[in-house]
Amino acid sequence: MRRALCPGTFDPVTLGHLDIVERAAMLFDEVVVAVALNPDKGYGPLFTIEERVEFIHDAVAHLTNVMVRPFDTLLVEFAQMNDAHVIIKGLRAVTDFEHEFQMAQLNYRLDKDIETMFIMSIPEYAYLSSSAVREIAQHGGTVRGLVPDAVCEALAARLNQSH
Ligand code: PNS
Repeated sequence: MRRALCPGTFDPVTLGHLDIVERAAMLFDEVVVAVALNPDKGYGPLFTIEERVEFIHDAVAHLTNVMVRPFDTLLVEFAQMNDAHVIIKGLRAVTDFEHEFQMAQLNYRLDKDIETMFIMSIPEYAYLSSSAVREIAQHGGTVRGLVPDAVCEALAARLNQSH
């Protein structure tokens, strides 16, 4: 049984994230989408952990080998607890590389049995990030086509804007 983790903050999940999860689900027997309780960026998330888990849960309902779980530990500890030996990250552009390279090196140092692997984003989503989605929505722009429709509605409701 080959189980991989797709970790992230997913605040909110984007179609770019879901593309990576879907492709990982074709490569591994099981995929656990690991939703971090708090962003590593020093500010609180826009959506609660329950909301972020539910958005992903609904969006991956058609993928029978994908589970969604929250975590609030080191990622390698969560991988150990879930008997996962692979961490899958999406890479969009060179700008992602340095940060991802650092995390992969540190995680390798923490547990050499856990391998980080990268899936390259498709060009359509190469510019897409949760922070860009939040910023567009906060300024009243439309994010339809960038996130699942349910997330679109939730962003509008949360930010009290029409879109
Ligand atoms: O959505 P993001 O910001 O790319 O996700 C980053 C995440 C959640 C994968 C990363 O912050 C993480 O692994 N957090 C758990 C704490 C941890 O293990 N930190 C050490 C990694 S260097």
